[in-house]
Amino acid sequence: MNVETAIMPLHELDVEVLVAIMFEGEALDASPELESLNERSGGLIGSLIASGEFRGKAYETAYIHTPGRIAARRLLLVGAGKGDKPLSEMIRNTAGTAARVIQSKQARSMGFVCRSAWELDKAAQAATEGVLLGIFDVGSYQTQNKESRFFDSLIIAAAAGSLSALERGVERGKILAKATNFARHLTNEPSSEVTPSELAAQATAMAERFGLDIEVLDEQQMRDKGMGAILGVARGSDEPAKLIVIRYTPDGERRDGELLAMVGKGITFDTGGISLKPAENMEKMKYDMAGGAAVLGAMRALGQLRPPVPVLGVIPATENMPSGRAQKPGDVIRSLSGKTIEVINTDAEGRLILADAITYARQLGATRLVDLATLTGAVTVALGSVYAAILGNDEQWVAEVIAAGKEAGERYWPLPLDEAYREQIKSDIADIKNIGGRKGGVITAAQFIQEFVGDVPWAHLDIAGTAWLDEKKPYMASGPTGIGVRTLVYLTERLASR
Ligand code: BES
Ligand code: ZN
Ligand code: ZN
Repeated sequence: MNVETAIMPLHELDVEVLVAIMFEGEALDASPELESLNERSGGLIGSLIASGEFRGKAYETAYIHTPGRIAARRLLLVGAGKGDKPLSEMIRNTAGTAARVIQSKQARSMGFVCRSAWELDKAAQAATEGVLLGIFDVGSYQTQNKESRFFDSLIIAAAAGSLSALERGVERGKILAKATNFARHLTNEPSSEVTPSELAAQATAMAERFGLDIEVLDEQQMRDKGMGAILGVARGSDEPAKLIVIRYTPDGERRDGELLAMVGKGITFDTGGISLKPAENMEKMKYDMAGGAAVLGAMRALGQLRPPVPVLGVIPATENMPSGRAQKPGDVIRSLSGKTIEVINTDAEGRLILADAITYARQLGATRLVDLATLTGAVTVALGSVYAAILGNDEQWVAEVIAAGKEAGERYWPLPLDEAYREQIKSDIADIKNIGGRKGGVITAAQFIQEFVGDVPWAHLDIAGTAWLDEKKPYMASGPTGIGVRTLVYLTERLASR
């Protein structure tokens, strides 16, 4: 997609489809942009509203042909709802909706109208994100009806205001959206394609391209270090496990010595292992590396944005498979931290690989931790597919992550990580066991991870319910959402600007 910017009379924009948003119940003269387009279209917008055919409800659309004295061949109105959403979110979602309509109409180019009353950098960023996220194609293996090929030109325009603000916004929007789509692509790929080795290869190519350092530990290196928890999970698989460690170093090192570590669960396929999952929906378990993909996406964006704080990305990558060599319920493994773990259920594998990855991040000097994982089915019961759960050992750090999520347009809801839940993961034969029973599954999983974070400020995001969209939205395809990528970038920037 070629993205350009323009400050010019909107009716002169030479595009196939000109897109304008309208709020529910909004008077046309509340926006000089709408007023002018209405006047030049011979009152078409006004009559659509008068007839009740278009009311501005969220994601409602009206596609208007040859709209009078307007250079664009079509005018697309997109409803923006009541105006109760944050501006960036509204623009991201309406622009995404417009992009998907344009794709379905097989049009080639779009002009998106930013109102001059908006903060133009924020608006341009959100519009760019919306379009690039909206057209993400999950059907890359489909050999027919590839209509998405046509739409390849986007102009973000305003009638008045600062061109450099628009450009800044577009630049940032491109970086964040491409990083998110990179994560979505990796998550969408079948596990036969994105194996742990392939994930490591993709990470290596990405790191080289975006000025990041990378080291990939193989199983022998993990064995030498004593990473029994990752290796325990990997035992059942013929695909070798990898520990991907990416480092972003800012140009000038900071005095305060912060090192932010992002740890992402990278199970490229979760069968459950010997505690085998049922067949129904098992195909979805290719997305069990969405946390790892989010970390890779965030590192990609950081390599471009280059904020002044060093960041470590750690992704333990392995399959979770049953086999004659697989770990079995009742086995005891020794983690890198030295703590022993009784594996009661081999399907609770995410927390095992995170245990070693987090310990390793601490050995490398992490002063702050955030982990992302498709960790529990229970989080879907608790929060559905709207909010991801957040838990941690430091209220302020958790609040910081939630605030970063707000900026990014990603939602997190806190659950209590109370000492009292620790009872549930006590083991009779080892230091801890890897499941805590049916009650409070999101919390006992986090409690398990907490055993390995020590006193480093840490936040855990359980994204099992939010990393994959079962039903498409007007502004987004069903499938991988890329949740976490933008939150991690904003979080890094917040840390950098303190
Ligand atoms: N990868 C799953 C969690 C999951 C479930 C992700 C649904 C996405 C959608 C995880 O490894 C798992 O199997 N968790 C178990 C834990 C249980 C055995 C304590 C679960 O949630 O059932
Ligand atoms: Zn599992
Ligand atoms: Zn899993």
